Amino acid sequence: MTVSALTIAVDDGSTNVKVSWIENNQLKTIVSPNSFRKDWKSAALRRDKQVYNYTIGTTKYTYDATSDKALETTHVDYQYDDLNLLAVHHALLQTGLTPCPVTLVVTLPITEFYDPEDCQRNEANIEKKRQNLMRAIELNKGELFQIVDVNVMPESVPAVLSTLMNSNCNEFTRSLVIDCGGTTLDMGVVVGEFDDVSAVYGNKEIGVSMVTDLARKVLAAADSDASYLVANELIKRRHDMEFVKEVVNDESQIDAILTKIENKIAELGSAVAIEAKKFAKNPNRVYLVGGGASLIYPAIAEAYPTLGERVVLINESQSALARELCMYHADDIDVDVNPETLIEVADD
Ligand SMILES: Nc1ncnc2c1ncn2[C@@H]1O[C@H](COP(=O)(O)OP(=O)(O)OP(=O)(O)O)[C@@H](O)[C@H]1O
Ligand SMILES: [Mg+2]
Repeated sequence: MTVSALTIAVDDGSTNVKVSWIENNQLKTIVSPNSFRKDWKSAALRRDKQVYNYTIGTTKYTYDATSDKALETTHVDYQYDDLNLLAVHHALLQTGLTPCPVTLVVTLPITEFYDPEDCQRNEANIEKKRQNLMRAIELNKGELFQIVDVNVMPESVPAVLSTLMNSNCNEFTRSLVIDCGGTTLDMGVVVGEFDDVSAVYGNKEIGVSMVTDLARKVLAAADSDASYLVANELIKRRHDMEFVKEVVNDESQIDAILTKIENKIAELGSAVAIEAKKFAKNPNRVYLVGGGASLIYPAIAEAYPTLGERVVLINESQSALARELCMYHADDIDVDVNPETLIEVADD
């Protein structure tokens, strides 16, 4: 039996799942934060608030944006376990599409996808991820998407597919792609227009969470306990004084808080720059993707001063990978990519 399935690209990162799909010839993208805990939630008081209670095997899970019991999704095993299956299904439901059979294009950290020793595909990991996502899962009082097939792609490098194709590079051009995500730093060196991936790098110690953790700590010290989502929002909107005042209860501490956040951002930037220079000393171009790209851009531009404009911050960097994977797997469709729709998913 053949099933006609819609193709959806899902960059299932450790902190946020980015989903891109094509609807009415337009590319659409959502970002769905990961925040699940064990057991179920009771029915919502407000009728417009949906409760997402899931069952995998005999284990019950629920989506809970602000829970302090949220399960860790920041370890490598996440790629192959219940939480990943949950995160992907939950993100698909946030698209607003009616549940249907889907073929997914998902991602694995670059050092899981390729064997770091010889840059060959790690078929065992790829198959493990595919099988994990085709497992059974149920949504209480609701319908889920049916995942009928799964294609796996590496993180980071494919995010610059179209940028590279349109950049007149030759077969010797070496492009360094840096993906600074919530909890990991992934890098790869691409030769030419994707003729080859010549080196890969992964570091689970460096990510935006360094800044998020600090922000939560300084907020708590100013009598303003904040969830991960709020702390992240503060980092993004730190130049928007109105927003800052809403989040920080003790206004006398605003300057000190913002200075500490800026310092941590600079620290993240220099940590990435040091690793990047060690990994690729003299690339011809550098591309920055992932949610943390704009935070680290100044430090990376400074680390590669001779490259000037060839250090490129990719537009809407957090969802760049999902968008590119979607476009790449839908190249027979005439897609209107401008203007683009990026819908932030509400936090509860
Ligand atoms: N414009 C922005 N400015 C600052 N931070 C941002 C911006 N956009 C996203 N972020 C932050 O980036 C982080 C998430 O990035 P991303 O979605 O790339 O991570 P991920 O793919 O889940 O993680 P990983 O790749 O480490 O598994 C979050 O902390 C989010 O708040
Ligand atoms: Mg990521």
